Amino acid sequence: MNINIDTFNNWALLDKDKGMERGHASSVSKIFEIFESESSIINIPFKFLDLGCGNGWVVRKILENRNCTYALGVDGAPEMIKKARNLDSIGEYLNINIEDWTFNKDYDIIFSMETFYYFKDLESVLKKVYNNLNDNGLFIIGIDHYLENKPSLTWDKEFNLSLNTLSINDWVSKFKISGFKNVQYIIHDKKEDWNGTLILYGYK
Ligand SMILES: C[S@@+](CC[C@H](N)C(=O)[O-])C[C@H]1O[C@@H](n2cnc3c(N)ncnc32)[C@H](O)[C@@H]1O
Repeated sequence: MNINIDTFNNWALLDKDKGMERGHASSVSKIFEIFESESSIINIPFKFLDLGCGNGWVVRKILENRNCTYALGVDGAPEMIKKARNLDSIGEYLNINIEDWTFNKDYDIIFSMETFYYFKDLESVLKKVYNNLNDNGLFIIGIDHYLENKPSLTWDKEFNLSLNTLSINDWVSKFKISGFKNVQYIIHDKKEDWNGTLILYGYK
């Protein structure tokens, strides 16, 4: 197991997944607003992939949209996936390290909340995301750990994690280099020294 997956597996055993669900809810609501306003994708049948799905709460949320014909959540922590499967029999859940996984379908939306800075070989995951999106498909992530968000820069020591720390400009250029077009970002919920969630998205 890698150190990040190990830490989150322990968090699942301590029921800390529920705290993440609460803590990330506002940013995910903002992302769902982007689905509504920026994309015609959700008004016709679409397939959805959540990378680093935790206990699967976003998979369950997207399945409330009747146009969502298939939703898959992937997470490396077995205890997270166990919880997801116990809570939901409609969405699919896969317990695998995303860096070792060859994605399996063509998706219309690939989503990820608070996971992409854990990847050692980010470029390779971004390429896989691009290759597994349908034309005009949407790739969207929310992240709280990035260079400009100073309180997040000590999380590696605080929580026993291995982090890939990039600036906002680095993230935008990685998306562009991977082939995504119309790359945009917003900062959500900035307060005092907390710079807010970086919500970043692009289209194939
Ligand atoms: C901060 S949590 C976020 C979980 C969920 N997206 C949420 O918002 O509640 C990050 C998740 O990514 C998973 N993760 C980290 N690195 C991973 C990897 N290489 N492969 C698969 N899952 C990974 C962890 O197990 C953890 O559940």
